[in-house]
Amino acid sequence: MKFATKQIHAGQHPEETTGAVITPIFQTSTYSNGKLGETKGFDYGRTINPTRSALQNNLAALENGKYGFCFSSGMAAVQAVITLFKPGDHIICTDNVYGGTYRLFEQIIKNYGLEFSYVNTSDINETKKAIKNNTKFIYVETPTNPMLNITDLSSLNSLAKEKKILTCVDNTFMSPYFQNPLDFGVDIVLHSSTKYINGHSDVIGGCLITSDDKIAEQLKFIQNSAGAVPAPFDCWLIMRSTKTLAQRMKAHNENAVAICRTLEKDKRISKIYYPGSESHPQFELAKKQMRGSGGIISIELGSYDKAVAFCNGLKIFQIAESLGGVESLVCHPVSMTHGSVPKELRDKFGLTDGLVRLSVGIEDGEDLMEDINNALSKL
Ligand SMILES: Cc1ncc(COP(=O)(O)O)c(C=O)c1O
Repeated sequence: MKFATKQIHAGQHPEETTGAVITPIFQTSTYSNGKLGETKGFDYGRTINPTRSALQNNLAALENGKYGFCFSSGMAAVQAVITLFKPGDHIICTDNVYGGTYRLFEQIIKNYGLEFSYVNTSDINETKKAIKNNTKFIYVETPTNPMLNITDLSSLNSLAKEKKILTCVDNTFMSPYFQNPLDFGVDIVLHSSTKYINGHSDVIGGCLITSDDKIAEQLKFIQNSAGAVPAPFDCWLIMRSTKTLAQRMKAHNENAVAICRTLEKDKRISKIYYPGSESHPQFELAKKQMRGSGGIISIELGSYDKAVAFCNGLKIFQIAESLGGVESLVCHPVSMTHGSVPKELRDKFGLTDGLVRLSVGIEDGEDLMEDINNALSKL
C-alpha cells in the first residue's frame, strides 16, 4: 500500500457493534470483566485503549515499522526510550538536539548515572571517536532543530551494528512522509507528534516506533509502568490528522522551497539553513535519504536586534514555540526553544542570537513571501 492510502486505512477498521467507519473515542478508564479471570483483551486504560491502539498501528505502518507506542508528549517518548538504559551506560547524542531533549538528559537523566556525550553526528568519524566500551545508545536528531544538520543514516547504522549499539532517530522534522529511518536499519524512531503528525497545533503527543520484537516488549512495559499515555480524545485527533499528512507535507514543502529560493538571493540574510538549498553542506545526502526538504527554514540575520525586528515585523507568521502546524510560526531559538542549551555548545554549532527559525505553514505561498518581505524591510 502506498503512503496516502496507508495514512487513511492502516490500523483502522469499521467498529464491530455499529460499523462506524471512524474509530470511536473509547473514553473509558477500565473494562468490565464478564466473569472473574475473563476479559476481552482489555483490562485497564493505561495499559490498553482501542483508540490508542488504532493510532499506534497507524503510525507504525507509516514508519514501515511493526510496533507503535504513543505517549502524552514528545518528551514523554524521549523519557521512555532513555529508560531502556541503566546507570553506567554511555549515550552519544547529536549535539544540536531539541533544547528540551538536552535539558532532560543533562538536568534529570544524568542524575541517575547515565553518561552523555554530545557529538556532531553529521560527521561519522566524530561519532566513531566518541564510542567507548560502555556506549549502549546513539540518539540522533536529523535534520536537527534548528540548524537542519543531517546525519547519514546508512553510515550511522553500519557503525552502530558493528559495535552492537542501539540507535534512535528523532524524525519529527521530516515526518514519516519524507523520511523513514527504520528502512536504513535504525532500531527506534521517535516523533513529537505535536508537530507535523498532528499538524493542527491543538494536541501535545509523542510516539516511538520499532520493528524489533524485544525492544517493543520493553517499550510496552515502560509505557504501561511509567504511564505517560495520551488521552483517547488526543489519539483520535492525531488519527484524524494523519489522514492528511501526505497532502500537508507536500504543501509545507512547496511553500518552503519557494521561500528558500527567494531568500537565497536576499542580501539581508547572511545565511540560510534548509536541506533543499544547494548551499546546504549535505544537500546531496538530503536528496539520498529524504523524499523532500520539509517546512522548516532557519535564517541568520546577523544580530539579536535584527532578529527581534524581523519577528516583530511579521503578521501572518505568529511568534510562537513549536512547529509543523498548518499555520506559519516564527521562533527565536536562543530565547525560546533552545534557552537551556549552554552558550559554548550553541556557539559550536552556529546557533547565534541572530538566528530565526521559520515553520512554514500551508497558507498561500505568495502571502507568506509578502509577509517575510515586509518584515525584512523593517531591518
Ligand atoms: C525535534 C523535537 N523533538 C522532540 C520535541 C519534544 O516534543 P513535545 O514538545 O511534544 O514534548 C520537540 C519539541 O519541540 C522537537 O522539536
